Amino acid sequence: TQVDIDAAAYEAGDHESYMRKEILEQPTTAQAVLRGRLDERFGTAHLGGLEMDARDLRAVRRVKILGCGSAYYVGQMGAGLIEELARIPADAEAASEFRYRDPVIEPDTLYVAVSQSGETIDTLLAVQEVRRKGGRCVGLVNVVGSAIARECDGGIYLHAGPEVAVASTKALTNMFLGFALLALQLGRVRDLSIADGKRLVAGLERLPGQIEEILAGEADLVEVAKELAEARSLFFIGRVRGFPVAREGAQKFKEISYRHAEAYPTSELKHGPLALIDPEVPTVALVPRDELTERNIGALHEIDARHGPLVVITHDEVDLGAIGARRIDVPRNEPELDPILLTIPLQLLAYHAAQHLGHDIDKPRNLAKSVTVE
Ligand code: G6P
Repeated sequence: TQVDIDAAAYEAGDHESYMRKEILEQPTTAQAVLRGRLDERFGTAHLGGLEMDARDLRAVRRVKILGCGSAYYVGQMGAGLIEELARIPADAEAASEFRYRDPVIEPDTLYVAVSQSGETIDTLLAVQEVRRKGGRCVGLVNVVGSAIARECDGGIYLHAGPEVAVASTKALTNMFLGFALLALQLGRVRDLSIADGKRLVAGLERLPGQIEEILAGEADLVEVAKELAEARSLFFIGRVRGFPVAREGAQKFKEISYRHAEAYPTSELKHGPLALIDPEVPTVALVPRDELTERNIGALHEIDARHGPLVVITHDEVDLGAIGARRIDVPRNEPELDPILLTIPLQLLAYHAAQHLGHDIDKPRNLAKSVTVE
């Protein structure tokens, strides 16, 4: 079922769709989730809504993130942030699977439910399962007072404002930022140094402006999106921090362009999907400047040698050499925060591909913004 939105309170205005409006709002909405929560002096975050003191935070031995669709993919990005910054084992699982498998609930695991609407039935039932078995579950939720927010022990509101388009953009960005704040706080009550904490606080403060820079380059992406829209099938690839970004990019693309888009870890290419690469099957590759750049470029050579069309989302200092690719450069932040900047162009590519194909962007066929019934 579709959650009713008060149209009078939130108009698409001059925009041709809510999705475009919501994409363009991100520099402002990203500031809203950070506001009042960053501590420059101690290089940490304050998340009073979690209802956990330093002792509770230190007692966490494992983090399990639960969400559906895009919320699940950004949960994977969040798990990566928590492992990197706090060195706590963390992973994400589709709440829709978790709820059916009689999961083992551990008292020293922190469960985190992620949801824009706060009403997704699979996520809500996963939260109830955790709490019924005595686990602690906090929420990363956008809609204030929603069912999941009420069911959790505490949480972080995302402050993205109403999101109408089925394909989540600004709420997803704020989910990532919410995870960054959580990872920072969990890290700083452990062994994350004050210098690293300050480095990340400064990085988070730079992010909204960098999102704005990417959006300012929108016109350059339109042609690339049209080319991708012509393909019947395409791959999205990324490695480690980039893999959940690839999954989210493929999700957006299939949701609104109805093209078969499949995400793969770049490292797995040679273990299967390379067999499908030919001039008809484009690949969108995430190649940030980090410790894996050279390996990623190695994979691009493999694709290029098989004449697979390539779109590479990267940083301007990355040299792609003789590889024939369309490149999209995004600004660099701290490497841990790069995933969200790599995600923004993927929103625009999906949007313009769907626009080119003449689809109903805000209400893609067969999908609801929020699946609230079984
Ligand atoms: C539906 C939508 C997805 C969305 C998911 C989770 O399946 O089609 O686009 O990511 O629900 O929604 P939530 O409100 O829980 O974030």
